[in-house]
Amino acid sequence: MQIRLWIGVAAALMMSPMVASATDTLDGKALYAANCASCHGVSGEVSALGKSLKPYPARNHRAIADLIGRDEMRRIITYGVAKTAMTPKKYALDALEIEAVIDYIKTFEYKPNIANGKKRFGAVCVSCHGNDGRAQTGMGAKNLVYSKLNLEEIVHTMRYGRPGTLMTSKRHQLTNEDIADIANYVYNLRYMSNAANGKKLFSNKCSTCHSSPRAIKLIGNAATNRVMSDLDDRLLDLRIRHGRHVDRAGKEITHLSSDEIQDIMAYMRKNTK
Ligand code: HEC
Ligand code: HEC
Ligand code: HEC
Repeated sequence: MQIRLWIGVAAALMMSPMVASATDTLDGKALYAANCASCHGVSGEVSALGKSLKPYPARNHRAIADLIGRDEMRRIITYGVAKTAMTPKKYALDALEIEAVIDYIKTFEYKPNIANGKKRFGAVCVSCHGNDGRAQTGMGAKNLVYSKLNLEEIVHTMRYGRPGTLMTSKRHQLTNEDIADIANYVYNLRYMSNAANGKKLFSNKCSTCHSSPRAIKLIGNAATNRVMSDLDDRLLDLRIRHGRHVDRAGKEITHLSSDEIQDIMAYMRKNTK
């Protein structure tokens, strides 16, 4: 009898139709209007009161609705942001109501202004990341053109920085509109490596010694899937530029541009999968 009951409960939890339907029936828009709009504005664009708050103003939800994950939103809404007017909302809203509010925020749309992103990037980021985003500035910043981060991860890095590095949090230096615009600008700087060009380069510059990427020996191992996937692009680039073959292959290697090496790596990765 008891076992049967537990199976019933477990099955209900697994399907969890309760959660889904409860969220559906909650009105996220109305909850937002009642609990958030006084500071964040009815449509997610900060109210006059929100703008005047100290020490930090309320923030635009429209600009970051797509760029901040649910988990982070849930954490901020539930626990608030210490020492700001964003107090914990877990006393005003229950867990399902918070999900409904997040669902509503997630309906907000924003069209990034790339020209503004470029301008703000010029003002705030180029001292370390360089005008072209390739970080040839001697500041130890990352090359944003070869970065693999997605938009959400770029935004996360800008909002929180990387502890222990020169990449500090920019959240209180930039509005959310600026963050969204810069993130999209940075994402558009991305070099899209071209594996087909890499294949051509490989056959011109490498195939006299390496019949295929698979045949390359990486410190005693063939460049198999596993060995290759242990190397990130930066390390593989270093091996190509400074590996044991440079003595022999010489100019063939040293004359390759960084972008050409990106293409070759894209081809190598494809070929060793
Ligand atoms: C009394 C004013 C006030 C109210 C009401 C308020 N907030 Fe905030 N909220 C703020 C402030 C101020 C910040 C900025 C905190 C900071 O500087 O990190 C903020 C930040 C946030 C953030 C993080 C945004 C970002 O870009 O970092 C989220 C998400 C958020 N609020 C959601 C909500 C939701 C959802 C509600 C309603 C349930 C709500 N807030 C109600 C003042 C308010
Ligand atoms: C004072 C120097 C400095 C400034 C200014 C700066 N950064 Fe950085 N940034 C760094 C450093 C250093 C790193 C590498 C951190 C690490 O080692 O993880 C970095 C890393 C990053 C990364 C991570 C890239 C990756 O692939 O891991 C992003 C994205 C980024 N910065 C974006 C920006 C943006 C956008 C701005 C301007 C709003 C900016 N940074 C301003 C120094 C800076
Ligand atoms: C003149 C011959 C020659 C040419 C041309 C050459 N390599 Fe090599 N390469 C070698 C030799 C020899 C090694 C040592 C390992 C081995 O025997 O495979 C090596 C090793 C490597 C390694 C591993 C380095 C390490 O430190 O583990 C990589 C990666 C590599 N080559 C990539 C390339 C690429 C990409 C090209 C074309 C751009 C290229 N090689 C062109 C001869 C060459």
